[in-house]
Amino acid sequence: MKNGSKNPRQGNNILVIGGTGKTGGRVVERLKTHDIAIRIGSRAGEPPFDWENPETWAGALDGMDTVYITFQPDLAVPGARKTIEEFTSQAVISGIQKMVLLSGRGEKEAELCEQIVMNAGVDWTIVRASWFNQNFSESFFLDPILVGHIALPRGEALVPYVDADDIADVVVESLLDNKHVGKTYELTGPRQLTFRQITEEIANVTGRDIQYNSITMDEYKKILGEHQVPEDYIWLINYLFTEVLVEKNSSITNDVEKVLGRKSKDFAEYAGETAATGIWNPDAS
Ligand SMILES: NC(=O)c1ccc[n+]([C@@H]2O[C@H](COP(=O)([O-])OP(=O)(O)OC[C@H]3O[C@@H](n4cnc5c(N)ncnc54)[C@H](OP(=O)(O)O)[C@@H]3O)[C@@H](O)[C@H]2O)c1
Repeated sequence: MKNGSKNPRQGNNILVIGGTGKTGGRVVERLKTHDIAIRIGSRAGEPPFDWENPETWAGALDGMDTVYITFQPDLAVPGARKTIEEFTSQAVISGIQKMVLLSGRGEKEAELCEQIVMNAGVDWTIVRASWFNQNFSESFFLDPILVGHIALPRGEALVPYVDADDIADVVVESLLDNKHVGKTYELTGPRQLTFRQITEEIANVTGRDIQYNSITMDEYKKILGEHQVPEDYIWLINYLFTEVLVEKNSSITNDVEKVLGRKSKDFAEYAGETAATGIWNPDAS
C-alpha cells in the first residue's frame, strides 16, 4: 500500500546512497518488503551516482523524495563538508523532503556535516554510529583475520562495536516513520571490546589460531605505506585511530533499543552468524 499524505509513515521513492554497501545493502533488503520505489545510488547504479562527480547527482535524485546518505570515504576527510553542502543543495532543488545521514561517532568534522543536513530546510534524522562489527568481515579488518595475524595500534582502546543489521533497522525506521524527524541517534552495541578480545572471540568461534599483536601508530602507518595504501587513506586511518578510538567515544548508549524496542546485537552473536557463512575460513576463498 502506498502511504497516504496523513500517514506518519512516509517515503515513497527512496534513494539509498551506497545501496550495495555494509549498511546501504541491508537498508535496501529491508525496504524491499515495503511498497516503495528504491533506487541504489552508487557508481555502478542506474543511473550512476558518484560523490566525486557532482554531474551525476541530479540524475540519481530525480523523482526521489527521500534519501539515505552514506558518504565516501568518511565525513571527516578534507573536502567532505563542501561536498555535503553542494549535495544537500542539489537534493533540495531536486525535491527531496527527507534526509537520513549516516555519521561517525566522535568525529568533530562529521558533526559539521550533520549541521549542514539539519539546516537544509527539509526533514532529517542523524544516525551517528560507533565502529561496525562488519569491519571484520566486509571491510579492512577481514584480510588480517584470514591471514591469522592482526597487527593494530591502540590495543587497549575499548570500542562499543555496533552491528550493521541494527544500523539498517534504525535507518529504515527513520526513513519510513516521521516520529524520527529531527532526532540524532547515537548507536553502539551492548559491549566494549578491545582488538585483543575481538581476536579471541573470532579465534574461538572459528576454531582457528589467530594472533593479535599490538603495534605503534607509526609502525602501522609504515606497514600501510609498504602495502601501497594511498596517502589520503593512511591519513583517514590515522585520524580514526587517534581521534575516534578515545575514551569519550567508548560509552554504551541505548539508542538502538530506544528506536527498535529491542536490545542491540552483541559481538558474540555477530561472530557466530559470520563464522557460519564461512567468510572467516581462509581455505574457502
Ligand atoms: N565502518 C565503520 O565502522 C563506520 C562507523 C561509523 C560511520 N561509518 C561511515 O559509514 C559510511 C560508509 O557506509 P557503509 O559502510 O554502509 O558503506 P560502504 O560499505 O563503505 O560503501 C560501499 C558502497 O558505497 C558505494 N560507493 C563507493 N564509492 C563511492 C563513490 N565515490 N560514490 C558513490 N558511491 C560510492 C559502493 O558502490 P560502488 O562501488 O558501485 O560505487 C557501495 O554501494 C562512511 O561515511 C563512514 O564514515 C563507518
